[in-house]
Amino acid sequence: MDAFFERMEALELALTYDDVRLGTAYSDVRPAHVDVSSRFSRNIPLKIPIVSAAMDTVTEALMAIELAKQGGLGVIHRNFVPADQAKEVTRVKFYLNGLIRVPITFYEDEMVESILRVRQEKGYSFHTFPILRRDGMLAGIVTENDFDMAKDHSVPVKSIMTTDLVTRGPECSIEEAHRVMVEKKKKVLPLIHSDKRLAGLYVFNDVHRIVSGERSAHNVDENGQLRVGAAIGVGEGEVERAQLLVNANVDVLVIDVAHAHSKLVLEMVRTLKSRFSKTDVVAGNISEPEAVPDLIGAGVDGIKVGQGPGSICTTRVVAGIGCPQVTAVYNCVKAARGSGIPVCADGGITYSGDIPIALAAGASSVMLGSLLAGTAESPGEVIYVEGKALKRIRGMGSLSAMRESKGSRERYRQTDVSLKKLVPEGIEGVVPFRGALADVLIQYVGGLRAGMGYVGAHNVEELQQKAFFRRITSAGQKESHPHDIQLISEAPNYGAKR
Ligand code: XMP
Repeated sequence: MDAFFERMEALELALTYDDVRLGTAYSDVRPAHVDVSSRFSRNIPLKIPIVSAAMDTVTEALMAIELAKQGGLGVIHRNFVPADQAKEVTRVKFYLNGLIRVPITFYEDEMVESILRVRQEKGYSFHTFPILRRDGMLAGIVTENDFDMAKDHSVPVKSIMTTDLVTRGPECSIEEAHRVMVEKKKKVLPLIHSDKRLAGLYVFNDVHRIVSGERSAHNVDENGQLRVGAAIGVGEGEVERAQLLVNANVDVLVIDVAHAHSKLVLEMVRTLKSRFSKTDVVAGNISEPEAVPDLIGAGVDGIKVGQGPGSICTTRVVAGIGCPQVTAVYNCVKAARGSGIPVCADGGITYSGDIPIALAAGASSVMLGSLLAGTAESPGEVIYVEGKALKRIRGMGSLSAMRESKGSRERYRQTDVSLKKLVPEGIEGVVPFRGALADVLIQYVGGLRAGMGYVGAHNVEELQQKAFFRRITSAGQKESHPHDIQLISEAPNYGAKR
């Protein structure tokens, strides 16, 4: 692979996905058995090497939850005010809520109506609360059923709560809790100390989700909670944003700017690493190898590569800068060799076949925007135009995103520019509605597996060692796509490109 890129370098040629294909090789690999696990950053593993873009039409909590359930990672966008972005992180972290260590409780003499009022004011989405005596001992549990069946709300909760409880001690494991709840047909299992003080609470739906078989595919942290990343900037108030995200237990902070080889980014990396030493920090985007030692020197745990390859990006044509993505990824990976710092290839992936190419060029993961924007889990509604189901996508540097959000203006270094004088570096558009993320990922990961099978690679590392690149011509590219027929139906992994 090095020899190929060195020859291209000698010709001063930079290449992107459509310019290359991987050679096939002897293979004893069955695609279904290849190991596609990888890493996003030093301490953040991936079971599938797919990360969703920090875009406001791609990744909020719902996308991050579903993607982490499938083994990947979502990066929550930063066009939220910090408190709301932290709430999105919390939603992901609490989706698989094993043991609730400090449940919300009420006292047995509080009125039903006042509990319902507090529930509404605080925005609790659940109705199950342990009820305590004034001396702190567990007296009962009130559930949605109890509230629904209560005819009169001006009575103390003790008159409607359930007192026929099954309990276990504080050490009860999630597996035992599941077994007990199934056996006793209980939706909740309070844990109590020997003196009957409350020690925690298991809720069946959460416990069942965790204990059910899919768990092995999930990308979870050491507490069994889904992993999630969040984007931050480098401007005023961004360290405070990072603090809120860290308080919400975010797994990785992603410094998300259009040009990361800059003084502000290097300073931000140093600040974050000294303040939040336990949280990984990824910085991007860059596309030149000279940026790599500077970022690694500042202490990053991961690097994101891609300046202008994205589906909605106009940076390259507006500003005249950038490097085609495969060469950019290869050069940056080469500069990071020996450091243990993974590189994520961000933007420009249009078919599943681009994923094995990005990984073969040395990336440890790919970040997807437009390929995920059309799923049911991306923010926004499905819209219908001439009978076609579509979803909106917009660049974070599009005019509308920059007008609406300080985060977008800061990403493109235009915080000091009046709204009338903004220079967008992205556009807005629509993509076909593609249905559930899980189904879409079957195709993307399936394409990666197929590619690895053809190359004879059992895992991502072997793909990087064994792959050999071939440059193709536009005739070769034309031949690669269906040709000389009229497409009458779209395959789940192939549609007309442009
Ligand atoms: P894809 O091709 O997967 O790319 O849709 C997603 C990536 O594009 C970047 N991005 C932008 N780049 N102007 C840009 O130059 C923009 O307005 C813009 N919005 C997103 C971003 O890195 C994302 O992950």
